[in-house]
Amino acid sequence: MDLATRYLGLALANPLIASSSPLTGALDNLRRLEDAGAAAVVLPSIFEEQIAAETAERERLARLSEGFPEASSFFPAGSVPEAGPHEQLALIARARAALSIPVIASLNGTTEFGWIEYARLVEQAGAQAIEINVYFPPVEPTLDGTAVERRHLAVLEALKRTVSVPVAMKLTPAFSAPGAVIRALDAAGADGFVLFNRLYQPDINLAALRPSRQAILSSRSEIGPGLLWIGALAGRLRGSLAAGTGVETAEEVIKYLLVGADTVMSTAALLRHGPAYLQALLEGLERWGQARGFASIESLRGCMSQAAVGRAMRMERGDYIQILQGFTPILPGAQGGE
Ligand SMILES: Cc1cc2nc3c(=O)[nH]c(=O)nc-3n(C[C@H](O)[C@H](O)[C@H](O)COP(=O)(O)O)c2cc1C
Repeated sequence: MDLATRYLGLALANPLIASSSPLTGALDNLRRLEDAGAAAVVLPSIFEEQIAAETAERERLARLSEGFPEASSFFPAGSVPEAGPHEQLALIARARAALSIPVIASLNGTTEFGWIEYARLVEQAGAQAIEINVYFPPVEPTLDGTAVERRHLAVLEALKRTVSVPVAMKLTPAFSAPGAVIRALDAAGADGFVLFNRLYQPDINLAALRPSRQAILSSRSEIGPGLLWIGALAGRLRGSLAAGTGVETAEEVIKYLLVGADTVMSTAALLRHGPAYLQALLEGLERWGQARGFASIESLRGCMSQAAVGRAMRMERGDYIQILQGFTPILPGAQGGE
């Protein structure tokens, strides 16, 4: 089976990408992911806050040595960072040198000022594409939806003005009309979309009676929003589509491709089972495709998109009512039967 696909204008050997996580933050893991068959990797995010902190520190040190010329001897040449988190830039450069698959860098921030300039260094370090994660939970009740959407657009436009490598937007589904937002970002020049990022939800540690801040890994039950919106948008955008959440087995990979994803990303499954698990996902996809008579990813992609199967995948009010009314409660103690 020909597994080749394209994403953000890049030719990929297959549709499986390791998404941004601590796993992609170490060179030996990146090599193991490539050996297991990853078609590309997304490195851990460089956060706007990290860049701002390092820039502020650089300015503070510069001010200090201005006021006290003798202070310059405390900071020998090269000891004051020029800008931002250099370790992550170094990782991009090292990953580019060590891997033959595309290296995608990740930026994570919510404003269009200052820090965006850092994207230039990311590009110079060798990133073949940039994924931007505008993680912006609009928890302030006075903030309206239009302002949130404008924020995404402004960040994208600033980034596109700054770099020439392709830019993918990693989004949460938390918009009142995700399709319209994605189409607007597509028209504004986004080269692709990761649908979707997960919003981390609050929880309470009842023993300690304090907020709990643990990353809970996704499960396969979370693929619904991605299936819906990739299925709705496949074939209707200029940019490409990556599925982003809930891959546990090859089945989720296959479903995402069937609704029209160009690529499928995974973090939780690789954190649970290790980088080599990517090979199992790939083999599962290939086995299923061959058994079903698909000669290529190209031939199976989008077979179940809305463009291909119409309303059946749309989950409209009719489907909703049918699902609710078709539910048969099985109550504890019931004997079953008529
Ligand atoms: C521990 C951890 C760290 C992550 N770090 C990042 C990050 O730095 N930047 C980012 O955009 N996403 C990050 N993510 C989100 C993942 O890239 C991915 O979008 C999310 O886990 C959903 O995919 P999954 O269902 O395959 O886990 C992280 C996820 C986890 C679990």
